[in-house]
Amino acid sequence: MSMQIQAAVFHGADIPLKIEELTLADPKAGEVLVKLTASGVCHSDYHVVLGEWGAQTPLVLGHEGAGIVVETGPGVTGLKPGDHVALSWTPSCRRCRYCVAGRPQLCTNAVQNAYRNVLPDGTTRLSRGEEPVYSYLSVGSFAEYAVVPESGAIRIGTDVPPAIAALVGCAVTTGVGAAVNTVPVTPGSSVAVMGAGGVGLSTIMGAALQSPEMIIAVDIADDKLELARRAGATHTINATRTDVVEAVKEISGGGVDFSYEAIGRALTIEQAYASLAPGGTAVVVGQVPTGVKISIDPMAMSGRELTLTGSNYGSSRPSIDFNRILDLHRNGSLDLDLLIGQRLRLDQINDAFVALGSGSPARTVIEYT
Ligand SMILES: NC(=O)c1ccc[n+]([C@@H]2O[C@H](COP(=O)([O-])OP(=O)(O)OC[C@H]3O[C@@H](n4cnc5c(N)ncnc54)[C@H](O)[C@@H]3O)[C@@H](O)[C@H]2O)c1
Ligand SMILES: [Zn+2]
Ligand SMILES: [Zn+2]
Repeated sequence: MSMQIQAAVFHGADIPLKIEELTLADPKAGEVLVKLTASGVCHSDYHVVLGEWGAQTPLVLGHEGAGIVVETGPGVTGLKPGDHVALSWTPSCRRCRYCVAGRPQLCTNAVQNAYRNVLPDGTTRLSRGEEPVYSYLSVGSFAEYAVVPESGAIRIGTDVPPAIAALVGCAVTTGVGAAVNTVPVTPGSSVAVMGAGGVGLSTIMGAALQSPEMIIAVDIADDKLELARRAGATHTINATRTDVVEAVKEISGGGVDFSYEAIGRALTIEQAYASLAPGGTAVVVGQVPTGVKISIDPMAMSGRELTLTGSNYGSSRPSIDFNRILDLHRNGSLDLDLLIGQRLRLDQINDAFVALGSGSPARTVIEYT
């Protein structure tokens, strides 16, 4: 028995998303039907809306979701109806060499299917008439319901507010994980974080857990820098008023040990790298429009032993890390509430992108009744 659902559908770059009625088929083997309770709006949705990343259409965007399991497909043993879940956009296959080695964020099968907006069997459960409709990163959370792979739905406590659970599905896990898992900040070190949006603020909070000497936040919006202070930044730089690299070097006394870029622009990645102290590591978390290249000085890389690396999904293992992060929120070590800027309904989704484009407020969360 399929069902009719309301979803926000993307039809092409720069065309506002349309609220449409779609058909959602039953979950197949290894899949679950989830009723969405909340979805954050991440810049990785916005890259698609802007046409910076190609994607098949029609497509239901949204990949930072939370909900309640309604039905399970054949063979699902780890979840049951009524379970509260946060959704993962790298539904790991649990079999490939990366999954087996504990690096599910690099899962070969997720890259082949979820990153092409289909389920692990290569098909989609959404349609409009005869036409298939894709679901972004196997999540498609800008919809009332979604069918997702079992490994993409992580059971969480029933006490977790939907908006918080949703943000753990992307921004929080990505940002905290970059500073805790991918390249862990070390106690007493100096840190710079470029960009204080949902991902950057989470990176600051993750860095702060590790007791660095200083965290320098860089953004172009003063309200974001104010949030960065609340997240744990000890210093802030407004990039519209100051030379970022000079300012970071001055504050840190010659450069930082760790820098995290959470914007997705060539210039700011280059700044993150150029801001390093000898022996330092720059981590690219932000994702650039397709085709963008960066330019770095390899002589500095060898002479000063600099490292430039990347982080996908905070190198997280969602089935462990989602609940660890939620425990840190419960005990007050992470203040995830500060990420929530505004709450909107699904039919206001285009306003959320306007807010992302204008750089304010922090995170918009779509809430479903
Ligand atoms: N690596 C991953 O796994 C992963 C996961 C999620 C998102 N992302 C990427 O992370 C990036 C950030 O996502 P987000 O949702 O936090 O975006 P966001 O739009 O909420 O935040 C970006 C921030 O950067 C600031 N900014 C823009 N230009 C700047 C500049 N020149 N200098 C300083 N600050 C500047 C903005 O004011 C904003 O506060 C995006 O590229 C997104 O696609 C990566
Ligand atoms: Zn995201
Ligand atoms: Zn795998």
